Amino acid sequence: MPAIVILGAQWGDEGKGKATDLLATTDTIDYVVRTSGGHNAGHTIVVNGEKYATHLLPSGILTPGATSVIANGVVVSPEALFRELDGLIARGVDVANLVVSANAHVITSYHVEIDKVTERFLGKNQIGTTGRGIGPTYADKINRIGIRIADLFDESILRQKVEAALDLRNQVLAKVYNRRAIEVESVVEELTSYAERLQPMVVDTSLLLNQALDRGETVLFEGAQATMLDVDHGTYPFVTSSNPVAGGVCVGGGVGPTRIDRVIGVIKAYTTRVGAGPFPTELFDEDGENLQRIGGEIGVSTGRTRRCGWYDSVIARYSTRVNGLTDYFLTKLDVLDSWERIPVCVAYEVDGQRVEEMPMTQTEFHHAKPVYEFFDGWGTDISGCRSFEDLPKNAQVYVKALEELSGTRIWGVGVGPGREQTIVVHPD
Ligand code: GDP
Ligand code: IMO
Ligand code: MG
Repeated sequence: MPAIVILGAQWGDEGKGKATDLLATTDTIDYVVRTSGGHNAGHTIVVNGEKYATHLLPSGILTPGATSVIANGVVVSPEALFRELDGLIARGVDVANLVVSANAHVITSYHVEIDKVTERFLGKNQIGTTGRGIGPTYADKINRIGIRIADLFDESILRQKVEAALDLRNQVLAKVYNRRAIEVESVVEELTSYAERLQPMVVDTSLLLNQALDRGETVLFEGAQATMLDVDHGTYPFVTSSNPVAGGVCVGGGVGPTRIDRVIGVIKAYTTRVGAGPFPTELFDEDGENLQRIGGEIGVSTGRTRRCGWYDSVIARYSTRVNGLTDYFLTKLDVLDSWERIPVCVAYEVDGQRVEEMPMTQTEFHHAKPVYEFFDGWGTDISGCRSFEDLPKNAQVYVKALEELSGTRIWGVGVGPGREQTIVVHPD
């Protein structure tokens, strides 16, 4: 199976890190690739009881033998990159197999500053970003005033580009946000200080990946963020500034759509969201608190409490559609162990009408009220189950119902954070 995409089907934090790690250790995976986003991601992997968190790095960095790739569509903070690498090196992880695209855009200190002041400026309309400079860096890319990794190796070109960017950005910082202008030299100095360590990692990642696929090697594209956070297909403007959907992998990785063989959507057995924006099945009661507590729903990157709600199959069907999913990996089924009755959103009621598909406009989505069907709980600990038949009957019914409602098969089920706490329903 040469090219596999793993992506988030909801609002992030579905367990993409675990799914990536699982595939990377069960199949022979040669490359694990990030193609969008940056260190706004937080992926948790638990190996032999030891917990690791990756942010900018692909989770494959923990897989011996696999090459980790940060491709052109990612926005890279060199400071965050080296901090994360040093953290793993200190824990004895071999990080030698990492390559970075020369065309990836660089997050600088002024992007972080602009991210933070923009959020403050938006007041009650703020997005609740991670404050990592993601949006402003992608904005500069589209505005054609971005800095790319390759620019770090030619100081005079770098200076020209930083000058051009700050000509514009400093006007905004000073005149709109009433902040001090940022000095070109301090930015150039900081960025060039990373060049020597970075240079040996930099390659043409599109060429590398296409040649690997030509040789029949296996490439795993590890998604970050998620479908509902996609700037085109998510709950705009409450989204991130990239395309975490399957199509984004081709742009962000420099591979054509005909090369992708399998697209796995990672989805929780309930729903969570961090930051602002609409969320039809959100709970404000004891059930929501219990999902948050039992599921340990606290952000890996920002430490923020995640908003929690029931499984939303309208969103699942939408994710199946916009990503062309071939499989789902359903995570955190074990979190539901103690509920007697589990609601699942099967449709919305929008302004008095029942709708089965994602509403076309954001206004309608804001008005969407979940229509629930109820399933009997199983009231027992399933974290030790290792096959579908091991699961209690009611848990089997729940999984089969979600499969039916969500538009594609459920390939695997997570029953705990550990690599081994997984049930593969369809072994092919
Ligand atoms: P990602 O951003 O999609 O990689 O997900 P995060 O790592 O931010 O959040 C998922 C959390 O759920 C992590 O703490 C994982 O260790 C944990 N997790 C993943 N799969 C399961 C599962 O099947 N059961 C339980 N209980 N936890 C899981
Ligand atoms: P992983 O890969 C959950 C959310 C932020 C905010 C919005 C925009 O761990 O699933 P940004 O800093 O990207 O401009 O913030 O997107 N967000 C995430 N939420 N998981 C993530 O990543 C996220 N990355 C960004 O909370 O609402
Ligand atoms: Mg996460």
